[in-house]
Amino acid sequence: MSKEINPVRNRISNGVKMKPLKIREPEGKLGVLLPGMGAVATTFITGVLAIRQGIGKPIGSITQMQTIRLGKRTEKRTPLIKDFVPLAGLKDIVFSGWDIFKDDCYESAKKAGVLDINLLEKLKPDLKKIKPMKGAFDRSYVRNLDGNYIKSGNRWQLAEQLIEDIRKFKKKNKCQRLVMLWCGSTEAFMERKSVHNSIKNFEEGLKKNSKLIAPSMLYAYAAIKEGIPYANGAPNLSADIPALVELAQKTKTPIMGKDFKTGQTLLKTIIAPGLKARMLGLSGWFSTNILGNRDGEVLDDPLSFKTKEKSKLSVLEYILQPHLYPELYGKIDHQVKINYYQPRGDNKEGWDNLDIFGWLGYPMQIKINFLCRDSILAAPIALDLVLFLDLAKRARLSGIQEWLSFYFKSPQTAEGLEPEHDLFIQLTKLKNTLRWMMGEELITHLR
Ligand SMILES: NC(=O)c1ccc[n+]([C@@H]2O[C@H](COP(=O)([O-])OP(=O)(O)OC[C@H]3O[C@@H](n4cnc5c(N)ncnc54)[C@H](O)[C@@H]3O)[C@@H](O)[C@H]2O)c1
Repeated sequence: MSKEINPVRNRISNGVKMKPLKIREPEGKLGVLLPGMGAVATTFITGVLAIRQGIGKPIGSITQMQTIRLGKRTEKRTPLIKDFVPLAGLKDIVFSGWDIFKDDCYESAKKAGVLDINLLEKLKPDLKKIKPMKGAFDRSYVRNLDGNYIKSGNRWQLAEQLIEDIRKFKKKNKCQRLVMLWCGSTEAFMERKSVHNSIKNFEEGLKKNSKLIAPSMLYAYAAIKEGIPYANGAPNLSADIPALVELAQKTKTPIMGKDFKTGQTLLKTIIAPGLKARMLGLSGWFSTNILGNRDGEVLDDPLSFKTKEKSKLSVLEYILQPHLYPELYGKIDHQVKINYYQPRGDNKEGWDNLDIFGWLGYPMQIKINFLCRDSILAAPIALDLVLFLDLAKRARLSGIQEWLSFYFKSPQTAEGLEPEHDLFIQLTKLKNTLRWMMGEELITHLR
């Protein structure tokens, strides 16, 4: 080994030991509040109940199943993440939420048709007890649903009622801490307007009942105002507006979004980094889906689909960086379609055709047919987000939690920053953040 290299190696292997963050222990109960108790939420809740009873396994969950390497490879220290960072235990989670339909968790899960009826029957008594609170709703944001279980009042009053719901739930269930995760329908496409630009404008807008404030923003506002970590599993803006980021900083609240990275986009962010790593070109990526659940019904409305489409289209551009590689990725025809096709229920089927090219420009094709189960892929994400956001709060982290980008199709970033979409970079960032929290050396793979 040359003399020039040795000092660098030493500097890295003797890496600076960092001080761990002061993280409060996860004592007592953690209340999980879910606006929208449809397919994803009920699959998540039922899964946690099943795992607690030992009749299911948390497959797909990083917090429950993945290990983390610490120190040098020779040290052979690879604890489970849940044994490394102080996460809340599944037994300490209590669920509640809101919906615009009155069905309890058992009924809603049965209608969603994701999980086997035998499993639902086994857990029926517990599932029946989880009943939604009345939702804050405005049909102009979800035109294909006509809920009848809704609160009344202007937006300011609705936000106050949501805060009241949260406080009552916390008291009744003796929760030490809460986390909120939007699992509601995808709202109609909207762009940021001045009412979204500062908390002052936003609160004035609430009082004036501004139609520009979407229902999901009311839930986000209620949570953040109370200092409760908030994440958004759908692509609509919700907390991704300067007003709510400002409020999150004021109330020292961790927030993150948007849109759970499941199904087709998950595969896209696995495959695209591989093509780029090998400098293989891409001229087109055509993606189409059939989906028959309530989410599919909502996305059948062009305004809701536009929100989703924007979220799905953005990933390739960011990963492939056409501005740096114009010859390989300068002209990609990227199309995404979703068709509502009722017989398929929650078992979405996605087809992808990739037109790629290699050495001397010779064309090749890749075809993917993914028979996926949307909510089965989303449920472990919901669990991890809840546990990591609770951890972030106890570690006194606040504002946008970019280290959780791993879980989202459109990761929220600080103003002016580009999101990271490459799944592998996202995972490295997530694990390095955990190492940093616990005062372990960051792993750079340089040694
Ligand atoms: N399933 C996935 O893999 C996946 C992936 C990424 C994103 N998402 C998003 O997650 C969300 C949930 O998906 P899902 O499959 O459970 O859909 P779903 O239609 O089964 O459930 C959504 C629920 O939200 C309720 N709702 C709508 N507006 C509400 C409001 N203002 N207040 C309270 N409740 C409200 C609906 O009544 C419905 O029960 C959707 O926005 C979807 O686009 C899902």
